Amino acid sequence: MNVLVTGGAGYIGSHACVELLNAGHSVVVADNLANANAECLRRVERITGKTLEFREMDLLDRAALNELFDTHRFDCVLHFAGLKAVGESVQQPLRYYNNNLGTTIHLCQTMAAHGVKKILFSSSATVYSPDNAMPVKESARTGGCTNPYGWTKYMSEQILTDTAKADPGWTVMLLRYFNPVGAHPSGLIGEDPRGIPNNLMPYISQTAAGRREKLSVFGGDYPTPDGTGVRDYLHVVDLARGHVAAMDYMAGHPGVHVFNLGTGRGYSVLDMVHAFEAATGKRVPYVIAPRRAGDVAEVYCDPAKAERELGWKAEYSLEDMCRDSWNWQSKNPNGFAAD
Ligand code: NAD
Ligand code: UFG
Repeated sequence: MNVLVTGGAGYIGSHACVELLNAGHSVVVADNLANANAECLRRVERITGKTLEFREMDLLDRAALNELFDTHRFDCVLHFAGLKAVGESVQQPLRYYNNNLGTTIHLCQTMAAHGVKKILFSSSATVYSPDNAMPVKESARTGGCTNPYGWTKYMSEQILTDTAKADPGWTVMLLRYFNPVGAHPSGLIGEDPRGIPNNLMPYISQTAAGRREKLSVFGGDYPTPDGTGVRDYLHVVDLARGHVAAMDYMAGHPGVHVFNLGTGRGYSVLDMVHAFEAATGKRVPYVIAPRRAGDVAEVYCDPAKAERELGWKAEYSLEDMCRDSWNWQSKNPNGFAAD
């Protein structure tokens, strides 16, 4: 298939490009490099031995988007583009609503105008309301988001759902990711956060590398087995493969489909620290710090629907996630910038 990957130069999108190329699809990436480096795409080509087309463009630029669709015949769009820093979204809500909702709306309008009606959307575990019992199934309550970023995912799901309701020609896959970590086993691509990482795994690996003095564990008094927050971490390559499975599913399944993509296993912050140390032989000094605003005690999913209907299941272990994070970090101490 001819696939448009928005945000394809980013962390998850680039891993998806590898899996799409390996599966024989042809790939066009549209990314404004707001949080990415074009070097990443050259490495995707190195990993796969295949080429892709890169368009450096902002999806908010209607004319550029229209021209892209005028000059290509896409079968399907994977929509990863978006801003994703939770704390920043609290400080800059209008920028987040404008970017994350604007890109989704422009994209859908342009797709409809060109008769392209298949889209996979990067949603998030953050759309589930915090009062659900764990593990969460796709039918669990949504809403009650604790930050503007979360609301943009919630609202984008609504926009896409209403679009498909109004025109049954659409096929919409709402993929709710849990916590992607790790990197491609080649060590050529991985997560390259700018500045101080917000997320746990990059912080752990930068601490192990000596770039950060110690990890602050946000909260040691949650009602969890060791008092630290529990999440459903999954290997980014598994997540990327989930997109290929979801794309295959779209044929013959019009309408809106929601899938959790996670392992179904919850690990605490300290489990992650210990697993990282065991997998890499590196020490990760840490201190217990106050809770981070907006965090919940635990979130993990029931991934049975994805296994049943998509035939997809996360395969990589926690040890693999830690080993591959470290492999990427140690081979690319400055991310893509070094090249
Ligand atoms: P990322 O920041 O690495 O990738 C997003 C990409 O979108 C970047 O390359 C960025 O340059 C691009 N982009 C942003 N706004 C754009 C615009 N207006 N026009 C063109 N390109 C634009 O993030 P990621 O971790 O790869 O996440 C991909 C998607 O998955 C995002 O939508 C994110 O919200 C979602 N998601 C991520 C996680 C996670 O933990 N990483 C969890 C759940 C959902
Ligand atoms: N944590 C620390 N110290 C750190 C960073 C994180 O203790 O320096 C803890 C957090 O308190 C939490 C756990 O590690 O308990 C995971 O935190 P992350 O920031 O890595 O991930 P979150 O679960 O908070 O959020 C991530 C993404 C969101 C996404 C969500 C669900 O950042 O965008 O997963 O998909 F919505």
